[in-house]
Amino acid sequence: MEINRLGVDLAGLRLANPTMLASGILGLSAESLGNIVKTGAGAIVTKSVGLKPRKGYPNPTVVQASCGLINAMGLPNPGINEFIKEIREAKNFDVPFIVSVYGFSAEEYVRVAKKAVDAGADAVELNVSCPHVGETGSEIGQNPKLLAEVVRKVKTVVEKPVFVKLSPNVTNIAEIAEVTAKAGADAITAINTVKAMAIDTETAIPLLSNKIGGLSGPAIKPIAVRCVYEIHERVKLPIIGCGGVTNWRDATEFLLAGASAVQIGTAVAIKGPNMFKSIIRGINAYLKKKGLKSVKEIVGLSHCS
Ligand code: SIN
Repeated sequence: MEINRLGVDLAGLRLANPTMLASGILGLSAESLGNIVKTGAGAIVTKSVGLKPRKGYPNPTVVQASCGLINAMGLPNPGINEFIKEIREAKNFDVPFIVSVYGFSAEEYVRVAKKAVDAGADAVELNVSCPHVGETGSEIGQNPKLLAEVVRKVKTVVEKPVFVKLSPNVTNIAEIAEVTAKAGADAITAINTVKAMAIDTETAIPLLSNKIGGLSGPAIKPIAVRCVYEIHERVKLPIIGCGGVTNWRDATEFLLAGASAVQIGTAVAIKGPNMFKSIIRGINAYLKKKGLKSVKEIVGLSHCS
């Protein structure tokens, strides 16, 4: 009989395998997110949702860079009151459904997170790392005092796991992870995009309407692996690796660095959701070849060398 090596426990959530859809990919509708579930993803994270509807930035909001994408969408979303309908529908998914939340104050994070959980979200992921919208995202995640306040306040009202997605655009991500852990977070997602820009050489005009955006995709994978490694050395919380995963080897590298699960974003946007199947199969074959019985056995293994 084939052993089930792939199941993971993540801060109280049970995932059938360690892959997750990263926030921001394939929109906000329960229908499109449900299609990802069918491809085998172990959990789903929604695009970030705030208290009020937000249009986001005008086009262009995404440009291709070598080895990745630079995006500045500007957190477009319908607002939590409208999004609640999708959360109620997604409650029927047979994988954990995690709502990504942002706010312009600790109180806003609290209100959005509570509404998401009351509507049926299995967990929330606090976006304290979007690198290009003022007064939220990384402006909170780069400020230890504000970050701790947001996490602490959300934890006092939300009875489901609280994940916190950190920015790589800081001097010392392990220190920020420690602040997050002390404030009561249940898990850390590392990392959001790396602050970046691109300029048209003919017109001398920045390509994104917002000028500055965030780089994702294979170009940032080594940065993300380093961040996971440093966080694992510093805090005991489960870590979810994110940044540039395109195949099972990338995913395995994150697990070896200390991640308990891995989010996939840009590769799904570019190559489509069938990525999940091949990554899951590859991790399983790797564990089998090494004679291991569970993903847990390789989490953080690179720290032993
Ligand atoms: C966006 O909506 O602009 C991206 C969100 C993020 O970078 O976290």
